[in-house]
Amino acid sequence: MQDVDTLREELIGAVDTAADAGALEDLRVSALGRKGRITELMKGLGAVEPDKRRETGQALNRLKDEVQAAIDTRKTALDSVALDAKLLEERIDVTLPARPEARGSVHPITQTIDELVTIFGEMGFTVAEGPHIESDYYNFTALNIPPEHPARQEQDTFYLPPDESGTPRVLRTHTSPVQIRTMETVTPPIRIIVPGRTFRSDHDATHSPMFHQVEGLVIDKTSHMGHLKGCLTDFCRAFFGVDDLPLRFRPSYFPFTEPSAEVDIGCSRKGGEFRIGAGDDWLEILGSGMVHPRVLAHCGIDPTEYQGFAFGMGIERIAMLKYGIPDLRPFYDSDLRWMRHYGFMPLSVPTISGGIN
Ligand code: PHE
Repeated sequence: MQDVDTLREELIGAVDTAADAGALEDLRVSALGRKGRITELMKGLGAVEPDKRRETGQALNRLKDEVQAAIDTRKTALDSVALDAKLLEERIDVTLPARPEARGSVHPITQTIDELVTIFGEMGFTVAEGPHIESDYYNFTALNIPPEHPARQEQDTFYLPPDESGTPRVLRTHTSPVQIRTMETVTPPIRIIVPGRTFRSDHDATHSPMFHQVEGLVIDKTSHMGHLKGCLTDFCRAFFGVDDLPLRFRPSYFPFTEPSAEVDIGCSRKGGEFRIGAGDDWLEILGSGMVHPRVLAHCGIDPTEYQGFAFGMGIERIAMLKYGIPDLRPFYDSDLRWMRHYGFMPLSVPTISGGIN
């Protein structure tokens, strides 16, 4: 049998000088693989004289371990050389100035959502979210809109094929299903806003099949219509930056609130100039009301113990009013000229202290 020491010297010498991971792997196979040299020697142990067998076996086992250890060490060294080479090759000079043409701006929708979150955040609201693809139950039934209800027709719903369990699905037509998802899982008090995408099959200068809404929900034991009025008045004044902005609450109807109110803000159109603030005209901007007891009950909340209010408004609409954007369609055109005109500086993040406007 070949001298173990000579073999060790030969193999470890080869391992230590292997040029790359491929060569190292070839060496491993030729020494320790199924037909490798050490493996073959071990297979041949049966033919060794019985009194030398034990000693030779131990020597071969040691050799095997030593060669494996040498391979591991060499592999670590080769890997680190390869990583250094890669890092050197992919080096980026971060001290180079940014390319001027790559400067982006914040989309008015994003800016408006940041503003909403800032104002309502200051009032103690947190942000909740939900899926765009909703079950018929969350979008309608749980909100007290049963299958035959006429409100279903008014919403121009996009219907989707049912899921595997046969549940009918829709693209959510409003953010109100997130009210249900929240009330099902959170024990009141609840104080959330839900900014997000909504979908209706409608398309013209003032309607887009995809648009954004923000929902608000407050549930506790004492909140009443007066709190709803105060909350929305404070919000509108902060958002539009008009301290004495008048609000008008008109009785209305939503299946999921009772009583319900639509809210108008004061405006004027003198000499062709549109202005938000005390004036001789009104503009509708949101829907609201006290959460219907049946909706609370659907979510496992006892309506004799808990109550609260909800509201919802279109984000494009309030953004257009605040920033004087005349048409809805370019919001989604990704036209850089429009973005440069109506977009916001990336670092002008709205804050209560620094200003919302
Ligand atoms: N979900 C209603 C809509 O899309 C808005 C709304 C929300 C009204 C909450 C009242 C309370 O028109």
